[in-house]
Amino acid sequence: MGRLLVVANWKMNRLPSETGPFLRQLLEQIPPMQHVSVVVCPPFPSLAIAAPFLEKSSIQLGAQNMFWERDGAFTGEVSPAMLRDLYATHVILGHSERRSIFGETLPLIALKVQAALANGLVPILCVGESAKERDDGRQFWVVEQQLITALENIATDQARRLVVAYEPVWAIGTGKTATPALAQEMHGHIRSLLQRLFGDAVARHIRILYGGSVKAANAMDLFQQPDIDGGLVGGASLDANEFSSIVAHARSCA
Ligand code: PGA
Repeated sequence: MGRLLVVANWKMNRLPSETGPFLRQLLEQIPPMQHVSVVVCPPFPSLAIAAPFLEKSSIQLGAQNMFWERDGAFTGEVSPAMLRDLYATHVILGHSERRSIFGETLPLIALKVQAALANGLVPILCVGESAKERDDGRQFWVVEQQLITALENIATDQARRLVVAYEPVWAIGTGKTATPALAQEMHGHIRSLLQRLFGDAVARHIRILYGGSVKAANAMDLFQQPDIDGGLVGGASLDANEFSSIVAHARSCA
């Protein structure tokens, strides 16, 4: 397992027919690395297409969401077992777009985190404050509540596999990246909360990614911070050159 983790979140972008050619380009540009792990999260219809491309590569496959039940009458949903069956290893959970547009609540996200861990998937749990919450000085409290609720009922031995992504809502897709110092301040805060919840060894093991307008130009400064263990990359992950140079920056920081 690499020390740094870089995750591509394509969101609702790229057609299934565009997925193979794009992944081929990415695989040419991203060599296998010892200290950096890379995960690509395409939309659901492209997962089955992406799987054979990534199967023998060093890039892993992730989904952007899932339901918590194994199977049954849940129209429109996708289960952890289905993701596993497609060789997905990771799943993004609780992204702010899921919370603000689709009304996902923290207790519901907690069920998803538990289901991901129970099914052998690595949950990438997203947390982050809005611009208003930061203006009001409530950012630490907000992120803490999000983590405490979403991680309820997670045992210490399971928590080792968790990934947390700090994504300040005001920085997502806006081009307004958090400064490395500001991101580090929150990452340090998250690390100490994880210490309180799961102990020092596990807290040091959990990777805390930064997300929100990460691009090649700012990746290096962010990844050099002591508590930033990689990035969750949206817009910039849709450009193979840009994404592979973000990964290259991670490699030089690892
Ligand atoms: P962005 O998105 O890189 O386009 O800001 C990040 C995310 O929402 O995961």
